[in-house]
Amino acid sequence: MNTPSPYTFVLFGATGDLSLRKVLPALFRAFRTGQLGADDAKDSGAGATDAGRILAIARKPMDAPAYHAWCEQHVRGHIKPDVWDESAWKRFLDTIDYMPLDLGREDEFGVLAERLSKRPGVRIFYLATGPSLFIPICEGLRSAKLNENSRIVLEKPLGHDLASSEAINDAVGAIFREDQIYRIDHYLGKEAVQNLLALRFGNAIFEPLWRRELIDNIQITIAEEIGVEGRGEFYEQTGALRDMVQNHLLQLLAIVAMEPPLSMDADAVRDEKLRVLRSLRQLDDESVSRNVVRGQYGGGAIRNSAVPGYTDEPGVPPDSQTETFVALKADIDNWRWAGVPFFLRTGKRLGERVAEIVVNYRATPYPLLGDATAQPGVNRLVIRLQPNESIRLYCLAKQPGEGMNLQSVHLDLAFDQFFKGHRMDAYERLLLDVINGRLALFVRRDEQEQAWRWVAPIQAYWSRQHKGPKRYAAGTWGPPAASALLTQYGSSWMEEDN
Ligand code: BG6
Repeated sequence: MNTPSPYTFVLFGATGDLSLRKVLPALFRAFRTGQLGADDAKDSGAGATDAGRILAIARKPMDAPAYHAWCEQHVRGHIKPDVWDESAWKRFLDTIDYMPLDLGREDEFGVLAERLSKRPGVRIFYLATGPSLFIPICEGLRSAKLNENSRIVLEKPLGHDLASSEAINDAVGAIFREDQIYRIDHYLGKEAVQNLLALRFGNAIFEPLWRRELIDNIQITIAEEIGVEGRGEFYEQTGALRDMVQNHLLQLLAIVAMEPPLSMDADAVRDEKLRVLRSLRQLDDESVSRNVVRGQYGGGAIRNSAVPGYTDEPGVPPDSQTETFVALKADIDNWRWAGVPFFLRTGKRLGERVAEIVVNYRATPYPLLGDATAQPGVNRLVIRLQPNESIRLYCLAKQPGEGMNLQSVHLDLAFDQFFKGHRMDAYERLLLDVINGRLALFVRRDEQEQAWRWVAPIQAYWSRQHKGPKRYAAGTWGPPAASALLTQYGSSWMEEDN
């Protein structure tokens, strides 16, 4: 196990939603398995680990014991029962200090610097705050010279369009070097995304199959059952295009489509992802209107329970035009992918929670064994990210008995059956990477801005439209237009084939 050098993990926004749902539970998981450094207390009964400490920062005046009580009340419930460990939790809390900080007062950053000066090692500043606070926090850190020997972690959304994201990147970039900046896209931390890299670059047999000559189309879906979960006001400012397409879906697309990198170094991998993003065919009004579908959920049922429509969610105005669903076709104009449509789709309140990448292969050159072989997608590779990570290869096999009757069968690799034991969640992996100074799974500025550049014509087109998103009932797979989008190209979404 990799034991990190000493570090202090400074968590801004320590009483916010992200901290309590994701960051602190992930740090606890890593602590519990000893990945945050030696847990001395376990063996000696002495104090908690000294390799790393967490300094929680928020506006609210309180001391460390009060913050621990807050964690008991709010964080505990977000830790899954299978990883819960009462005594590790107590020792984990011992590693957490608290400091109230008023961002409006520069001198308070001096107090922070004074406090941090007593601790050796690298400093990690994790900004689990809204993006409007990124610049004031970075400036405060600079004023106290805390930008040296440190790393900064930025959460999405990083801006709401290209210009605002450039403004944040410029301001942060004037204070921190690019190799100090860790932009999180938590999809990159998912085990199955790592496995996709292993599948593509650790095996010789897939590479010859990974190209236009054999592939008919590729589909990437991130479907959620949840709605906006009480975050109506936030979501109103965001919508599915900014929340999921600009980042998670385009990152997945980049990993699926990239060329083998020169090495697995952070920049070598990120260079290749960037090349894919740059090869995406630019959209115009005509292609947006033809190839991009936006939807918004109405009332319906999820797992037989009635759920309200988006405009009935708290914080959402009744005439909201915000999209909770996007389906689109993207084209990659390069040698490997010319002519292969990439269909991307994401939405809230859909029929099932599933994230997967579906590679549909072309039909056989002619139907020697009958019509069953004449359909694209008879051979299909499905990489499921969640739930139940798996890789499944569909092919046709002969049914036993007389005649040549073919049936679809699949070869299956279900990861949890093959690999037993501790599985890291995305945040746990990414936070450990920050602590250990590994940048490969973080988004570089140019990639992030290129993704904004690509979605810009969609944002512009929608902002000029009076017609809002198309309605779909909660619990379905989005508006019918999402199916019609694929029908235009002679295809269908995977679940419609079954
Ligand atoms: C976040 C979005 O980035 O990803 C949320 O802001 C979304 O709206 C979430 O629910 C989905 O992540 P996961 O890991 O649960 O698929």
